[in-house]
Amino acid sequence: MRALVYHGPKNVAVENVPDARIEKPTDALVRITTTNICGSDLHMYEGRTDVEEGKVLGHENMGEVIEVGDGVDRVKVGDVVVLPFNIGCGFCKNCENGYTGFCLTANPGSAGAAYGYASMGPYSGGQAELLRVPYADWNALVLPEDAREKEKDYVMLSDILPTGYHGTELARVGIGESVVVWGAGPVGLMAAMSAGLRGANQVFVVDRQPDRLRLAETIGATPIDDSAGDAVQQILDATRGEGADKGVEAVGYQAHDHTGEERPGLTVNSLIEAVRPTGRIGVVGVFVPADPNSGDDLAQEGKFGMDFGTFFFKGQTMGTGQANVKQYNRQLRNLIHRDKLNPGLIVSHELGLDEAAEGYRRFDDREDGWTKVLLHP
Ligand SMILES: NC(=O)c1ccc[n+]([C@@H]2O[C@H](COP(=O)([O-])OP(=O)(O)OC[C@H]3O[C@@H](n4cnc5c(N)ncnc54)[C@H](O)[C@@H]3O)[C@@H](O)[C@H]2O)c1
Ligand SMILES: [Zn+2]
Ligand SMILES: [Zn+2]
Repeated sequence: MRALVYHGPKNVAVENVPDARIEKPTDALVRITTTNICGSDLHMYEGRTDVEEGKVLGHENMGEVIEVGDGVDRVKVGDVVVLPFNIGCGFCKNCENGYTGFCLTANPGSAGAAYGYASMGPYSGGQAELLRVPYADWNALVLPEDAREKEKDYVMLSDILPTGYHGTELARVGIGESVVVWGAGPVGLMAAMSAGLRGANQVFVVDRQPDRLRLAETIGATPIDDSAGDAVQQILDATRGEGADKGVEAVGYQAHDHTGEERPGLTVNSLIEAVRPTGRIGVVGVFVPADPNSGDDLAQEGKFGMDFGTFFFKGQTMGTGQANVKQYNRQLRNLIHRDKLNPGLIVSHELGLDEAAEGYRRFDDREDGWTKVLLHP
């Protein structure tokens, strides 16, 4: 089969690899019809993870079931499914409690598995013609009859929509509240959309990419351009000096200031300043336990100077981590089906799999207008 293979920093290529196949009775085999490039893939693409060369990438996957193992009961050949980026077993302590992003079975010795991702187990990704789906009855979300017509929307259930929603859940966004989202990438935009869904009264989105800020506005948020002046001050000014009620971090450890200099603690510390006393902050941007290729000594050990005194003094609360996609994907699917959510509006490019390397390069360069890239193998 054809698949996108990682060969080293900024070096990916589509090539022939052995076909994905059923390996255990609980597996399904999916023919991929849409698979997205994610900001999370860029951490690997830029050489800022320990992902092994030769890995097939791709964790935002949707397609048609073409074969099931003998132990699969619910999912049927012909079903159109979207796969949570997390691979869970369904029977470990964490899966039972809903923490499917921290499965203890699928990636032994760690907590949490995913398709085609660094440190997330031996699983191949779906930027390929075929994908092996472990524990298929547990992991596959079957889509209704409008699956093909709304493919651009439903594919977002694999990651960024539930992840954005998770940010607002960690922050417990409630009706009538103000929310500030740091980062207007796909995840930040989905967090802004989710905050609106939960009844927020005003949502600010901070970034400096004009095309992404425009999308934030389309979603109904107030764009904050941090290259036009201190973002924290802009939020304080807009909230009578109080700060926003809630905050979401959607940038991660490769955060940089608007001149391009990397500052891993910048977004978290800005949120501590821009959220009001007793407010909650949900961190869904990725942070890693070690970042050996960072130019910063502390960051190499996965650390940064957190403004903990202010955080404590303000009595704030912070939640973090990978999204447990299965907690939200069914409900969000139903909203898409009923035309109450259209996450696909952020899609900027749809490419064939053979154009994937170019898609990576241009998305990574944050070229104007390259917001979210879908690949169709
Ligand atoms: N927790 C999860 O389950 C989960 C799932 C998916 C993605 N992620 C992570 O979420 C983060 C965002 O993903 P994405 O796909 O939107 O990525 P992206 O790289 O496309 O977007 C990041 C955005 O942040 C902006 N940015 C950078 N520094 C900033 C700063 N200091 N202030 C304001 N904006 C800044 C960039 O301009 C860019 O628009 C990544 O770290 C990704 O790995 C986490
Ligand atoms: Zn993703
Ligand atoms: Zn599990």
